[in-house]
Amino acid sequence: MGNADSPTIKEPARMKIIRTTQSRISEVDFSNLGFGNRVSDHTFEAVYKNGAWGEGIIQPYGPMRHGLGLHALHYGQAVFEGMKAYRQGNGRVAVFRPEANWARLNRSGSRLLIPELPKEIFMESLFELLRVDQAWVPKEEEQALYIRPFLFGSSEFITARPSEEYTFGIVTGPVGAYYSKPVKVKVEDTYTRAASGGVGYTKAAGNYGGAFYASAQAQKEGFNQVLWTDHREHTYLEEAGTMNVAFVINDVLVTPALTDRILAGITRDSILTLCRHWGVAVEERLISVHELEEASANGSLQEAFGMGTAAVVSPIDGIGYKGNLLSVPAPLDGLAMRVKKGLADIRFGRSEDLFGWMQPID
Ligand code: COI
Repeated sequence: MGNADSPTIKEPARMKIIRTTQSRISEVDFSNLGFGNRVSDHTFEAVYKNGAWGEGIIQPYGPMRHGLGLHALHYGQAVFEGMKAYRQGNGRVAVFRPEANWARLNRSGSRLLIPELPKEIFMESLFELLRVDQAWVPKEEEQALYIRPFLFGSSEFITARPSEEYTFGIVTGPVGAYYSKPVKVKVEDTYTRAASGGVGYTKAAGNYGGAFYASAQAQKEGFNQVLWTDHREHTYLEEAGTMNVAFVINDVLVTPALTDRILAGITRDSILTLCRHWGVAVEERLISVHELEEASANGSLQEAFGMGTAAVVSPIDGIGYKGNLLSVPAPLDGLAMRVKKGLADIRFGRSEDLFGWMQPID
């Protein structure tokens, strides 16, 4: 069994730290967090210039130093990550699979011609920032500190060529559940999220900006999100909004195989690993919308769910396709809920961390 993530770097980083004198934490209602509305007191920032990364700085959250010629705003050389830290039962804070996020950030960056971010900078800045803002890590089930590392072209010029300067930043904020109840998704057969040879497998900012229009249309029709399909035939299922997707058909966990159009979700990988460890049959393969229709009609479609850092495990109870709604069971004792609990038990330190996924911050 793979111990994919190696030990935490715990030494204090060589970086400047300016602490706030006015924490905003007392303004936060931790019993009503929602998702993504709050930022913690501090951020991290480091700049790449003249071929090298400079010293980083942790400082109070505040406005950026850039003018409107900021390269990333015009040409979209911008990629990000989503990850979470949890407060475990013993009060300690631990981060879930940070090295996997570091590796994916660089896979995304490399496709957008953004220079590699060394692992030491990512890990040291992340752990130091978490130590500085550890009071912001909530403790309830379904809650976590969401961590948003990002890289963007930070030169200021309007010529259409790659940026020369790049900035690495980290913003964090306490979050609750992304979706509070099962979601309905619409199989998208007009718009396309990603094409072969493109950037669909990356967490490029534009992948999300480019999806908002289609999601807004689906929301007008009463869906929470779109279920993206392949760019050629709009037949094969790819991702749902901000999540990877999985289906339980005849007791087999089926999920679209990764291609260069699909984000290699770390939650997806963790769930497949957990299911295989439990002896659940897992298939990564093409799944067509017609297979779903058939499975729904003959009763073999037992569950559907989204998997993602923000969304965790989100049951899908309805799938719209060409004006019809396939209703999907969302059992409380099914695989989705078992997986959700299995992951939470590891994250909150209630079960053995069999795969070496949790890294304590101190
Ligand atoms: C995440 O799950 O962390 C994501 O990046 C989705 C986000 C856009 C909310």
